[in-house]
Amino acid sequence: MDIAADPTSLQQTLQGYRTAGQTVAFVPTMGNLHAGHLSLVHRAASLADRVVVSIFVNPMQFGPSEDLDAYPRTLEADLAQLKAAGVALVFTPQPEHIYPEGIDAHTKVSVPGLTTVLCGASRPGHFDGVTSVVCKLFNLVAPNVAVFGEKDLQQLLIIKKMVRDLALPVAIEGVATARADDGLALSSRNGYLTPEERAIAPGLRQTLTAMGAAISAGERNYNALCQAHSAQLENQGFKPDYLEIRCRSTLALATSDIRQLAIFAAAKLGKTRLIDNLQLDL
Ligand code: PAF
Repeated sequence: MDIAADPTSLQQTLQGYRTAGQTVAFVPTMGNLHAGHLSLVHRAASLADRVVVSIFVNPMQFGPSEDLDAYPRTLEADLAQLKAAGVALVFTPQPEHIYPEGIDAHTKVSVPGLTTVLCGASRPGHFDGVTSVVCKLFNLVAPNVAVFGEKDLQQLLIIKKMVRDLALPVAIEGVATARADDGLALSSRNGYLTPEERAIAPGLRQTLTAMGAAISAGERNYNALCQAHSAQLENQGFKPDYLEIRCRSTLALATSDIRQLAIFAAAKLGKTRLIDNLQLDL
């Protein structure tokens, strides 16, 4: 497995793949890898000759009071997992490689509309940070296909729109959320949970499943459903940020005639912010 610590060495290794006529599948990550990331890597391996993974904790997508400094950095363990998974190349840039003149002086890529709701409303500027770095990584890696997790469904929809709008020559592939046995969506931030919080955490998924079952059984008063389940989350010890039923393509609040829905949830348990979603086809 090759490791490229800067864009120049990344380009040199990628040039070798292109000369050999090999296709590239790309998995961008912020490291602290778990089974969810490895499921993206495995999907990537089925889609192209070579898998390239980036590990970059992107400062542009963290708000001033968020966990940039505390975000877990576990490079050696990450590299061992990627090597075992058969990854060809890992890109491990530093912020100065991605933002040579600093974050504020850097060009931003901003997707309108989809970024203003859900996590975009609670985390202003977050998605501009995501699309700016993903667009730059796409330009550096020039992959044939890039793979993202459906746990961050809003992020996936935003990246698909960016790729459509800017005619970026890359296919985008979504992979179903990897979960612990008790249903909790795997996330690097789960490591922040205390044992007591970890025991409560699967309640988020259970709420989504119960809401999905109610909708499948004919419930269409989405507002009341969200309010009731939000109150239940609070009773369990969560501080809900949002619990909303939205159209899966436009992210508009769902009305009873929308067939492709997703229930989106974000809630804090102590200091840890958890997100999850459930996709429904009526
Ligand atoms: O989903 C993530 O881990 C990040 O948002 C991404 C796509 C790697 C961009 O920094």
